Amino acid sequence: MTNATPTPLYSGAAPGQVAADLAQLVDFQARGVPMAELQAMVSACLLPHLMRYDQPQFQSMFNAFPPAEARFGAQVMLDYNQGVTNWQVSPGGATLEELCGRALCRLFGLAAEADATFMYSGTYANQQALYLAIHRYAERQGFDLAQQGIAGFAASERLAVLISADAHFSLKHAIRMLGLGEQSLVLLPVDANRRIDVDALRAIVQELRGARDIVCMVATAGTTITGAVDPIAPMADLCADTGAWLHVDGAYGYAYKLVPAWAPLFHGDDRADSITWDPHKQLAAPIPNSLLFVRQRTDFARMALHSSYFNLPEAVEPNPGLKSPPSTRPMSVLPLVTILRGQGLDWVVADLRAPLLAIRSLADDLKDQPDVELCHRPDTGILCFRLTPAGVRANELDALQRHLYEQVLASGERSISITSLNEQTVLRLVVVSPHTTLADLQETIAALRNVALRKLMT
Ligand SMILES: Cc1ncc(COP(=O)(O)O)c(C=O)c1O
Repeated sequence: MTNATPTPLYSGAAPGQVAADLAQLVDFQARGVPMAELQAMVSACLLPHLMRYDQPQFQSMFNAFPPAEARFGAQVMLDYNQGVTNWQVSPGGATLEELCGRALCRLFGLAAEADATFMYSGTYANQQALYLAIHRYAERQGFDLAQQGIAGFAASERLAVLISADAHFSLKHAIRMLGLGEQSLVLLPVDANRRIDVDALRAIVQELRGARDIVCMVATAGTTITGAVDPIAPMADLCADTGAWLHVDGAYGYAYKLVPAWAPLFHGDDRADSITWDPHKQLAAPIPNSLLFVRQRTDFARMALHSSYFNLPEAVEPNPGLKSPPSTRPMSVLPLVTILRGQGLDWVVADLRAPLLAIRSLADDLKDQPDVELCHRPDTGILCFRLTPAGVRANELDALQRHLYEQVLASGERSISITSLNEQTVLRLVVVSPHTTLADLQETIAALRNVALRKLMT
């Protein structure tokens, strides 16, 4: 452990102060500000309020500073400001996006017919996956969803999308934006380790038969709250039985399939109809950097919209814009390529493995400590727990966790998160950076214990 004062994660200023400091930036005037002055202004009023993801005490979210290899790719992306929707706007960019998508399918061991498209975020990848699922279901009902919309279904209220109770809220957004309404979501119970409970799922599928039409099941490969990886293979079996589309939301966790010792957790992913993955999370690719994989590249034909001035139906050149919106798409592919090529897979995998080991070691370290209650065994790089010091009554524990969270955050020295599991308030540590070690996590536990001690003494 180190006694050096850590770099503050950000200024620690309150929202009102941040807004006051930033006001000069949006004071748009007739005359411009010279570049040197502009730089000084941004440095003084904005940078102190930005979060330092590069510090090992940042243990709350999935963000990371891009490595040098990513910065190089991002600089080229910026200098050329390429839109890569098709060959006409960027022959190199459009081709690179296509080539990289296919290369990633091979890297992840997906089917030979698999393909990928870059998306603005995991949220939109999930939304497109659900659209594709509903589209295929409509085709099986004999109509074209693109033309008729959900009005084409005889009873659209029967449509059901099955997701984990711990699934990311972007699936709710998706279902709202697709016009199905949240009534179409069926929340699946999770087991003690926060993975979808397959027996319960089988029973639910049985119960829904005849009453609802199961269009899609979503397995989360790395839930946002606990990092749990749902059992993909048994869900693929159930989808094969019911005809439902299987979507794997691996926005956070799918990267860990690349770590050999963790790969078995993702068994069955090659049978998924679609998979979301966010390299802007632990790969630290500049935001936005997300992908949607599909098992059969022909699935993307359901997205294609041609126009009279580009994306022409007869075009034979690479045309990534036919596989997903938007039409003006960033060359996000390049920083991802420069990370993977620049670092090489051995380095990438070692950097992915480090946080997994740090979180696992922390769980091993804490599991027999009397003042800690672990909420799950970590599948990936997240650990949820409660501090339960002697002398605190059970009904005071939620308030204590909130107090610990608020005090740690107020210190400005470290960032942790708080969430709710089984209606209890719990603390959550997240590691995505290889630079956050077991010792850093233990320092956080020590800091939490100090706060608890101070609270107990008052
Ligand atoms: C499991 C999961 N799915 C989807 C998302 C949404 O991805 P994005 O933030 O890229 O929109 C997240 C974000 O953290 C996530 O953890």
